[in-house]
Amino acid sequence: MSRRLEGKSVLVTGAGSMGPGWGNGKAAAVLFAREGAKVLAVDLNKAAAEETAEIIRGEGGRVEVFAGNVTDEGSVKSMVAACVDAFGGIDVLHNNVGILKAGSPLDTTVEDWDRILNINTKAFFLPCKHALPQMLKRGAGSIINISSISGFRNLGAPYIAYNTSKGSVVSFTRNLAATYAAQGVRANSILPGIIDTPMARDATIQTSGKSEAEIDFDAVAKTRAARIPMKRTGTAWDIAQAALFLASDDSAYITGSEIYVDGGLNCTA
Ligand SMILES: NC(=O)c1ccc[n+]([C@@H]2O[C@H](COP(=O)([O-])OP(=O)(O)OC[C@H]3O[C@@H](n4cnc5c(N)ncnc54)[C@H](O)[C@@H]3O)[C@@H](O)[C@H]2O)c1
Repeated sequence: MSRRLEGKSVLVTGAGSMGPGWGNGKAAAVLFAREGAKVLAVDLNKAAAEETAEIIRGEGGRVEVFAGNVTDEGSVKSMVAACVDAFGGIDVLHNNVGILKAGSPLDTTVEDWDRILNINTKAFFLPCKHALPQMLKRGAGSIINISSISGFRNLGAPYIAYNTSKGSVVSFTRNLAATYAAQGVRANSILPGIIDTPMARDATIQTSGKSEAEIDFDAVAKTRAARIPMKRTGTAWDIAQAALFLASDDSAYITGSEIYVDGGLNCTA
């Protein structure tokens, strides 16, 4: 292993997973630690973050857990302070939190619209707002915001609030990148395609109108893979590898960019 993040302090939000298996935030936290990073694993669900931390500790990595809410400013201030106290600063901020709810404009309630937009936009705004001063103090930092291909492409199922929130990640990130580039802080977005995670399983349940027990997940996976040019769905590790590149100095001249991690899906009709 090349240890591309040796000694770096990394704050990962949504570092747990909503179900068994590998979510994007969980895989990123583990991969960052394997590459030598000191990781603050933040999650609303402490047990989920602890599970990720146990994996990291089991591999000899360095990690601390912070049970916090990225939509609560006080909690975000505390998680940033916890990272600085534990590791001396923040080199990388990985904003992974995002929630999903299916719905067209006709069947999305105002309450759901407000909830999804509130969580999915504050999830990158607040951690950036409070981690940036730490990065500016050092004159260096990398911010990675998790968007989605569905912010820009209609994948067939209606997710109007989610898609709107994920599109906004890119405009926010580009503005951030342009504002702080001269001060050494980079900001980029990752746009995952169809990724096989517990969250995607949940999305299948939401749009199928069936119960979990009634769904043939293998058949669903085959149908999904067939429409992807690479003929497979992605994994959380595919997203984590892109995040590692953006976190590391290998991407030193890249800011304000978007990386699609989607097996070529964005190129299809
Ligand atoms: N799986 C896919 O196919 C896919 C595709 C495109 C984009 N994405 C994006 O990937 C990201 C999520 O990936 P994941 O696999 O890690 O999801 P996940 O839902 O498994 O894990 C996210 C974690 O975030 C935590 N969380 C939720 N709200 C929080 C809050 N307010 N404060 C702190 N923690 C909170 C949850 O407890 C959970 O452990 C999202 O931004 C999502 O939009 C996923």
